[in-house]
Amino acid sequence: IKRIALLTSGGDAPGMNAAIRSVVLAAHHYHIEVIGFYHGYNGLVCEEYIGMAESLSLIKVNGIIHFGGTILKSARCPLMLEEKGLKLAAETLDANTIDALVVIGGDGSFSGLLALKQYWSGQMIGIPGTIDNDLDGTDYTIGFATAVNTGIEAIDKIRDTADAFERIFIVELMGRHCGHITFNVGIACAAEQVLSFENFNANEQSLKLQHLAAEISAAKKNRHSSYIIVIAENLWPGGAAELAKQLHLQADIECTPCILGHIQRGGSPIAKDRILATKMGVAAVQALIEGKSTVMVAEQNNAMHCIPLAKAIKHKKLVSKQLIDAQQNILALTAQTQC
Ligand code: F6P
Repeated sequence: IKRIALLTSGGDAPGMNAAIRSVVLAAHHYHIEVIGFYHGYNGLVCEEYIGMAESLSLIKVNGIIHFGGTILKSARCPLMLEEKGLKLAAETLDANTIDALVVIGGDGSFSGLLALKQYWSGQMIGIPGTIDNDLDGTDYTIGFATAVNTGIEAIDKIRDTADAFERIFIVELMGRHCGHITFNVGIACAAEQVLSFENFNANEQSLKLQHLAAEISAAKKNRHSSYIIVIAENLWPGGAAELAKQLHLQADIECTPCILGHIQRGGSPIAKDRILATKMGVAAVQALIEGKSTVMVAEQNNAMHCIPLAKAIKHKKLVSKQLIDAQQNILALTAQTQC
């Protein structure tokens, strides 16, 4: 194996740069050249980006470990859903005499890798980089820990002003269709309510609204303080703003909605993400040297493994029952003690 293509794809995640650095350092150690392709899979299929591909030197990746975003840029690439795009990607890889493709991204990016398999015979490795933490088979994905921290820091600030005015806030968090960020941030911020896919049935929306209104009213009657509801994006039709509107119209409860949004994707990666990304980058290069392909590097109980890509994206990794129960129990205890 002489030449690896490397790209970052889908939603960027803090720690992607640390992973790029790690892949380049490990590859250089084994005298393998790394070609960086820009703008996700667009770098393989769009004329304007193909020409940007460049050999990644040690100097290029020096001093990037602490930066959020990705020096290779990222994108979502609808062309990879078509045969035309897959063939173009295979042609670009062959034209650049690439032996292996390493993609840092999430489930959509890995679906692209699996589809490409039909058109290209080189080795392929996925490195899980997404704030959503929804890839099965790895305890954590690169970027999740930082996104949770960012959410906590933001809500701690919201808590100050919410306390000062004794206001109710509804804070919407990212995670696409999974509640890993919402549950972790909710627990760490002592949110009075956590609303996520795991504890909410879309058919019971109106019931949930009544329940929520009753709980807010009871809590506000018993104590003068702020009240924070964290809610997963894509959960409530219309999001935090619509939930606030419905609580106002149906229960006369005033809430301030706040969408944290892309702030959760940015910022300097915290130690956990830098270290995870570094381990995963090295593991990806080692897996290639061992001849592995169509696998995702994964960390389980502090040890590196390789998981078939198809398995990693077959099901969304669930939020652990233990975490959901802990949140539920703490909520019940808080209501009882009226602290
Ligand atoms: O997958 C990462 C993520 O940030 C999700 O949490 C979110 O739903 C989505 O990407 C947003 O994507 P975009 O930045 O393309 O709007």
